[in-house]
Amino acid sequence: MKREKVRALNGEIHIPGDKSISHRSVMFGALAKGTTTVKNFLPGADCLSTIDCFRKMGVQIEQNGSDVVIYGKGIDSLSEPASLLDVGNSGTTIRLMLGILAGRPFYSAVAGDESIAKRPMKRVTEPLKQMGAKIDGRAGGEFTPLSVSGSSLKGIDYVSPVASAQIKSAVLLAGLQAEGTTTVTEPHKSRDHTERMLSAFGVELSEDQTSVSITGGQDLTAADIFVPGDISSAAFFLAAGAMVPNSSIVLKNVGLNPTRTGIIDVLQNMGAKLEIKSSADSNAEPYGDLVIETSSLKAVEIGGDIIPRLIDEIPIIALLATQAEGTTVIKDAAELKVKETNRIDTVVSELRKLGAEIEPTEDGMKIYGKQTLKGGGTVSSHGDHRIGMMLGIASSITVEPIEIEQADAIHVSYPTFFEHLNKLSKKS
Ligand code: S3P
Repeated sequence: MKREKVRALNGEIHIPGDKSISHRSVMFGALAKGTTTVKNFLPGADCLSTIDCFRKMGVQIEQNGSDVVIYGKGIDSLSEPASLLDVGNSGTTIRLMLGILAGRPFYSAVAGDESIAKRPMKRVTEPLKQMGAKIDGRAGGEFTPLSVSGSSLKGIDYVSPVASAQIKSAVLLAGLQAEGTTTVTEPHKSRDHTERMLSAFGVELSEDQTSVSITGGQDLTAADIFVPGDISSAAFFLAAGAMVPNSSIVLKNVGLNPTRTGIIDVLQNMGAKLEIKSSADSNAEPYGDLVIETSSLKAVEIGGDIIPRLIDEIPIIALLATQAEGTTVIKDAAELKVKETNRIDTVVSELRKLGAEIEPTEDGMKIYGKQTLKGGGTVSSHGDHRIGMMLGIASSITVEPIEIEQADAIHVSYPTFFEHLNKLSKKS
């Protein structure tokens, strides 16, 4: 796909539903008793993989664009899938689903695409095995394909070495089916959509700073869910609005859960003209409208407990940092190496192709600003949706047009991304 510089970005867009919340709405709706309705569901490839997997376990799910209805009959109604559960590119689908499958009394086999086959699964399979799960896979359960023979589980106190909502959620979902109480403690608090949505489905949890506990044997009751817009998708347009000259963009209904708003803190620390307008609440998830304008930006240092609050935004923050005065340092972000691609490598290699001065470090990167990105060549998403969107935004400021390979990777989380970018773009 060929893309070129824009003169300004102006107008208003509705950000599609949050990916993390959309996955959970289908999973929890499938475990609940009764009919769950979901509005503003994200019809991206990842969330469609989740729907497909639960249909294979006998759950009736109707999906029409961003409207989904799940006819739940309770967790005991899930049935043995007759074929492989294919999670596609989705780490959230596989890791959360493993927590569910671990306690179901049937056999299942789970796999996904080439990227999933490289992503570490022991971080989830190890704690689940401590609870009594029977899971096998390549390299002793580290890599897909994985097979699960459901068994009875017992509660554990699990101290996770990484702040990860996928690990926390998998263990809590197994804990829901386990005897006794399960507690997960993290080094920093990760996104808490599982806790908020389980409460909306009537499950009791107790939370204490970086620990969450759940007692097994609780039933989920169907709920009506409105999914706020994904702040991780909005982040691309927040960065674009701040960087592209003469811009002013309104982003409607963006999720503002404090465990996800690290990007807002970073933009404000960089000096961006960002305003949060009106806010509301749905199923305990806050959301509101954001207004961003062209801004002069300064470099920042990013590390410590803000990292889990913006981990998916680091590719776009790296691009933003090329347009800020000074050296931006991102540290404590080694988790980037195990995302859809090794995002330290892919961010550095693709931004360098555009002419950026950027250095990889062991747990992050250093970006030197302010720079003119010359562009003019060919870059690739490497099959990673967030790298693809970062490059799509980069093309609006490069001097020469750029060719983006594997741009369709963006369908994983934001199928209408280029439509939205075109709608806002003023070219002459
Ligand atoms: C997610 C958690 C994060 C995030 C991913 C979605 C979730 O991953 O990067 O895009 O929905 O729970 P980790 O749990 O691996 O940090």
